Parts: sequence; C-alpha cells; structure tokens
Amino acid sequence: MPHDFMPGLAGVPAAKSAISDVDGERGILEYRGIRIEDLCAKSSFLETASLLLSGRLPTQHELVHFVGDITHHRRIKFKIVDLLKCLPEQGHPMDALQAAVAALGMFYPGRNVKDIDNNYWSAVRLIAKLPTIIAAHARIRRGDDAIPPRDDLDFCQNFLYMLSDHVPERIASDTLDVCLVLHAEHTMNASTFTGLVTASTLADPYTVVASSIGTLKGPLHGGANEEVVVMLREIGTPGKVRPYIENKLKAKQKLMGFGHRVYKVKDPRAVILQGLCGRLFKECGSSQLYDVAIEVERVAAELLGEKKIYPNVDFYSGILYDKLGIEVDCFTPMFAISRVAGWMAHWFEQLRENKLFRPDQIYSGEHNRPYVPIERR
Ligand SMILES: CC(C)(COP(=O)(O)OP(=O)(O)OC[C@H]1O[C@@H](n2cnc3c(N)ncnc32)[C@H](O)[C@@H]1OP(=O)(O)O)[C@@H](O)C(=O)NCCC(=O)NCCS
Repeated sequence: MPHDFMPGLAGVPAAKSAISDVDGERGILEYRGIRIEDLCAKSSFLETASLLLSGRLPTQHELVHFVGDITHHRRIKFKIVDLLKCLPEQGHPMDALQAAVAALGMFYPGRNVKDIDNNYWSAVRLIAKLPTIIAAHARIRRGDDAIPPRDDLDFCQNFLYMLSDHVPERIASDTLDVCLVLHAEHTMNASTFTGLVTASTLADPYTVVASSIGTLKGPLHGGANEEVVVMLREIGTPGKVRPYIENKLKAKQKLMGFGHRVYKVKDPRAVILQGLCGRLFKECGSSQLYDVAIEVERVAAELLGEKKIYPNVDFYSGILYDKLGIEVDCFTPMFAISRVAGWMAHWFEQLRENKLFRPDQIYSGEHNRPYVPIERR
C-alpha cells in the first residue's frame, strides 16, 4: 500500500507508548501522566526514573530499595577504567561513553531479554554506572585518577564528588538533580527511536543504550547544549547579540538551543531551567553567559517568534552545567546520564510487544542498468 513519504518521519507514530506525552501547542510535558513541573518541584531523579520504569510512583519502601540497588551498582570494573585510559585524551566524552557502555555488555550478558528480572538489573546497572564512567573519563583524560563512588552520597552529590574530589554544596547537587529529572524522557525523540530499533532486534540492553548514545551526540539532538555555550562565549557580551543573530540568520544558519519539532511555544523544560539559573546565580554569583543568553532569547523572540521558534531544553542547561564546573564537552554526557532512564523505560515497553522495525522506502533510483565492464567506463 503506498504511503506519503514524511522526511524525518515527522508526525508519523513509530510506537504506542504510555511513558510520556508532549503537548507542543500548550508547552506541556508529562511523564506517566504527571506534569514535569510537579516532578521537578517534588520528586528526585531516582524517584522519577523509578516512575518511568515501572509506570507508577514508588512507595517509600520501593524507593528505598531502588535507590539502594542503584547505589550498590555504581562501581565500574577496573577493566572499564583501563579501557578509558587507552582512549585518546582529546577524544569526545560521548565516544568514550559509547565505547564503555558497549563494553559493559561483555561483562554483564543481558542477552536473554525475555528474562524480566535480568532486564531490571540491566536498567539499574546502566543508570548507576553511566555517571561513574563519565566522571572517570573526565578525570583520566586530564591525568588524574578515577575516584570510586561513595555510598554515603546521593546520586548527584556522588557524581559531582567523583568529578571534582569535593563533596558539592547542596544547591549544586539539587540543581543537577532537577536537570536530570528534566532530561529523563521525551517521547519519540531520535535517540529513543534509535534505541527502539536496536531493541526490536532483541539486542542486549548495553547495545541498545550504546546506539542511543551515538544518536544523542549529534548537534541537532543532545549535542546542541554544547554548541549553545560555544555560541554564547563567541558572542561575549549582551551588546553584541543583535548583530551576531542577524548575521547568523542572514547566512541561513540555525541558532543552537532554539526550535523544536514538537514545541511551538517555549519548551517547558527551558522555563524550569531558566528558573534554576536564577536560583543558582543568586546564591553563587551570576554568570556572564546567562546575561548574554537572556539577550539572545529577547532578540530571537523578535526575529524568530513569528516562526514559533523559541528556546528548547538545550538553551539553558549548558549555562547551569558550566556554573557547576562541568566541562563543555561533558554537557551531552550529562544528558545521557538522565535520558538512560527513558531509554530503559522504552526498552521495557518495546519488549512487551516486540515487532522488528523494518520500515519501507520509496525507491528513487533506476532499474535494469547494464553492467559496464571496467575498461569501458
Ligand atoms: C530542533 C530542530 C532540528 C527541529 O527542526 P525541524 O522541525 O526539522 O524544523 P526545520 O529545521 O525544518 O525548521 C523549520 C524552519 O524554522 C527554521 N528554524 C528551525 N530552528 C531554527 C533555529 N534554531 N534557528 C533559526 N531558524 C530555525 C528553519 O530554518 C526553517 O525555516 P524556513 O522554513 O524558513 O526554511 C531545529 O529547530 C534545529 O536545528 N534547532 C537547533 C538545534 C537544537 O537546538 N537542537 C536541540 C533540539 S531539543
């Protein structure tokens, strides 16, 4: 049966899912039916991860167990640390993360994806170990030793500690925790779709996540948060914003951190992140990047508002990560630390009623061409 071809599969449902929903006209995002604003104000990243995976908010007892399971699985094998040591220092942390996650699959065979119990432990391991891998790589590439996790620290405190060797201020780890809640899930985005395609072949979960990480890296997806900070630094001061944006638009280039396939208003996650910037900078001193960002948003609203192009999740996240002392090329790995919860929730869902992804194409090439011998070409 012929179908219309939709470039980028825009508007084409690729799955039925009960995990999250976006109302792009009204700027509403819900995880399992709960508004993102509520989760950011009242939940934590690990409770949100549990909600995404199981479909409902955990009881106190269940949450204690889930947090305990994650805490217990944070350590990584010394061979994974050795693997990270072998990678070039100038290599991108997303590539290191992808390599290490793919390698995890050799240590924890999760190949029997029909084993629901084993699948839970695979999800726990992945959520628990990604921060340890990223922190270890960040330290190893600058010549420091990797720091093992500390069980007395919570998820975000521990990550920042493993990165810097200092237990962070509460405001820093709380800010990071909200960032992770916000990035944990977002319907059928490119990296989630990639994961589903891989999952549909019944590949193991480490391969599923490694393929999603590869997709997340691209600048049109998770990689945009790095590019935003590069852009804000390039602009330098609020006074230089207008000519910069005008030149960019004249050259038909896109403003990073703006626009979205689904949102036609300001991304609700950008609204929350901007609020977090306000809170963090009030306590820890402002950031020149933030002053430039506010002016970029103001000028962009004037020049792009007509096309319904507004800040997306990547616009303010990098400014926060920068203030938390995270290096620019680690911003996209930060996205992965959180989104792995959503990827795993979709993996569970896919396996429940699996069907191999094998879409069609519209062939636009020729037929019946003669094979011309090489000496006559
Ligand atoms: C996210 C994104 C890929 C969605 O794109 P899309 O739905 O495929 O929309 P298109 O790229 O077709 O853009 C539609 C129109 O809006 C314009 N547009 C979209 N995003 C823009 C941006 N960030 N800056 C300037 N113009 C933009 C396009 O130039 C195009 O204009 P035209 O119709 O005059 O040619 C796109 O907005 C983008 O590249 N943004 C920058 C990267 C980014 O921040 N990614 C993170 C997403 S969370």
